[in-house]
Amino acid sequence: MKKQHLTIAGGGSTYTLGMLMSLISEKENFPLASITFYDTDAERQQKVADASKVVIQEKYPELEEFIVTTDKETAYKDKDFIFVQIRTGGLEMRKQDEEISLAHGIVGQETCGPGGMAYGLRSIKDMIELVEDIRSYSKDAWILNYTNPAAIVAEALKRVFPDDYRLINICDMPISIMNGLATLIDRDVWDLDPEYFGLNHFGWFTDIYDKSGKKLTDEIKEKILSEGLQPESEIADDPSWIATFKQAEQTLRDFPEFIPNTYLQYYLYPQKMVEKEDPKYTRASQVIGGRAKEVFEMCERIAAAQSLEGEVLEGDVHGVYMVKIAEAFAYNKNEKFIVMTQNNGTIPNIPQEAIIEVPALITSNGVKPIQVGEVDTFYKGLMENQYAYEKLTVDAYFEGSRLKLLQALTLNRTVVNANVANELLTDLLAANKDYWPNFH
Ligand code: NAD
Ligand code: G6P
Ligand code: MN
Repeated sequence: MKKQHLTIAGGGSTYTLGMLMSLISEKENFPLASITFYDTDAERQQKVADASKVVIQEKYPELEEFIVTTDKETAYKDKDFIFVQIRTGGLEMRKQDEEISLAHGIVGQETCGPGGMAYGLRSIKDMIELVEDIRSYSKDAWILNYTNPAAIVAEALKRVFPDDYRLINICDMPISIMNGLATLIDRDVWDLDPEYFGLNHFGWFTDIYDKSGKKLTDEIKEKILSEGLQPESEIADDPSWIATFKQAEQTLRDFPEFIPNTYLQYYLYPQKMVEKEDPKYTRASQVIGGRAKEVFEMCERIAAAQSLEGEVLEGDVHGVYMVKIAEAFAYNKNEKFIVMTQNNGTIPNIPQEAIIEVPALITSNGVKPIQVGEVDTFYKGLMENQYAYEKLTVDAYFEGSRLKLLQALTLNRTVVNANVANELLTDLLAANKDYWPNFH
């Protein structure tokens, strides 16, 4: 098996250590010659790298090279895979997005509603530059992107790199939900075979089978309605995710046709989502004081002890999902995963150019989406409305059009009211003056 050269862009991310552990847990199936960390923040990345070095010494001694860099050429030259997980503006700007939205009585969320729009306008510029940089050094590398808001990033990248079939946007939410579904029926998550359609953070499982073809949908729905749904693995103990997964029960009761993506809660029950938030301590603050703090404290402990003793550190679903998809591209495995891709007829009755999220076969010639067919009026209406918001946001970015931002926010189900949209825009523009160059 050919050994791969991999770069993680966003080496200082809170997810890097989990990704490294996932690469280690999959090393028989996705063997690596080298791992390179690249980040624009040398100091932050070094903290993660110092711990990673210990992890590699103990758990991946056969790895030939571990490189930590802020130099683009070193990061991207002669690579097979680039995993991308950057956050323009950091968690501090996410906090602003969420607090500003909630101050106007609107959902304050990383990727949904005004927060998602603000974050999208920050991410686009860096992501275009990053892909251009990668392509100038490795024209054939597979670029697997996790950077959010994935729907808006994917829509923008599609316009700048329309023929780049080795550039794929991925979300871990479908597999994370499947992890919860699997536990409900006492199965392994990798034994489930989903049918799913939607946009990113905006979709539905129409059926769930096991790999032998047995249909499990009804059993799963009954369990959700009788026992509720719970998060598993790395998010199992997080109160915010516990509440989010619990909400799926009501969503399924109200709309019993399909099993919902948990992110639909923000669009179907926006008022309830606003009411449960503390506008002075939003999700971003929880992450800063929680996941981020814990990861960096763990990195310090490992680096100081030069040992993993006493640490609980393992591959997670978020990381393993990316690695399994990489395996399928690298070795033409033709395996099915839910990823983002351009519609092109997969769902014939919504726009052909929309970025949808559906099961697809992953091959060394790219993503081969599996036909979904026409969707019913309710889903079509919701998806067209949401895609119009995404498209207008990206149009607005390229044209520097405030009007299109206002149209986008007014269309968004979390906002609706044009007065509120206008006020929100004024505040978001002021807060993002260093990040939205096209509007200043
Ligand atoms: P973070 O802010 O903790 O880490 C991001 C890292 O990226 C930082 O070290 C930062 O210095 C670096 N960075 C920022 N801009 C950069 C650039 N232009 N080039 C290189 N590095 C840059 O963020 P996080 O919470 O660890 O999340 C990382 C990303 O992963 C976010 O975009 C998040 O939304 C995304 N994510 C996506 C999914 C998904 O389902 N698609 C799941 C989890 C996380
Ligand atoms: C899920 C989503 C991601 C999101 C992540 C973190 O995994 O798929 O898109 O970035 O959750 O959310 P959190 O609020 O915990 O930072
Ligand atoms: Mn996601």
